[in-house]
Amino acid sequence: MNPDFRIFNHIQTLAETVKHDLISVLRNPTSPTQAFNIALAGGSTPRTIYEQWAMIQDDSLWSKVHFFWGDERCVPPDHDESNYKMAYDSFLSRIDVEEDQIHRIHGEENPEAEVQRYAHEIKSHLQISNNTPKFDWILLGMGTDGHTASLFPNSPAVKEQQLYCVIAQHPQTGQKRISLTLPVINNAKKITFLVTGEDKAQIISEIFSHTGEFTVAKKNKLSNYPAAQVKPQSGILQWYLDEAASSLL
Ligand code: 6PG
Repeated sequence: MNPDFRIFNHIQTLAETVKHDLISVLRNPTSPTQAFNIALAGGSTPRTIYEQWAMIQDDSLWSKVHFFWGDERCVPPDHDESNYKMAYDSFLSRIDVEEDQIHRIHGEENPEAEVQRYAHEIKSHLQISNNTPKFDWILLGMGTDGHTASLFPNSPAVKEQQLYCVIAQHPQTGQKRISLTLPVINNAKKITFLVTGEDKAQIISEIFSHTGEFTVAKKNKLSNYPAAQVKPQSGILQWYLDEAASSLL
């Protein structure tokens, strides 16, 4: 199935669209009592999206939402590189949510212990299907090497098919990370890639043809890009790009 591939003239219009997407799904829940479980993306791109979400000041919409992360750097929650800190500063600190709605990855803990704890937290909060936790929505970014979450090309983490989350390592800095695995990502009801900026244009052109279809050419190269291995079992896949990131298509 080809993804819902959209190009926006500016990250602001992309962010407004994602805000309206969120409002729409929260106003029309499939189950009014069930929690809505979102895994937030890290990096810098999502900040503009989270700042838009912070403008949704309708507390009734937030009451059922539970926030998880697709990955986290193994740093304390007040560290400038923390994905939790970025989401907290730009969004979560500005809306009315209870502490028990926020399920951050404890980057400050021992990674071997934390990967077990977070897997248990996901399993105990989410609906299980295909023997795998099912997120309602996963936001993802993509690196210039085609990584997503903290699944880097040719890493053991990207090959993991049993565990829900793993310890990963940034190939350049060696920084340890905790990341969801592809089986959990691909089990989500909806996955949205948020990709902006000229530095992503080359990798986008290698992954997509001009019609937003996955290019069949360079199949072996595609298989090396973890972002191109995000193909939900039955969920919706959206690639939301700005003009700069899609400029080589
Ligand atoms: C992280 C992210 C990572 C990020 C990409 C894009 O923890 O860094 O999970 O996958 O989304 O590296 O990052 P930018 O949005 O900063 O380009």
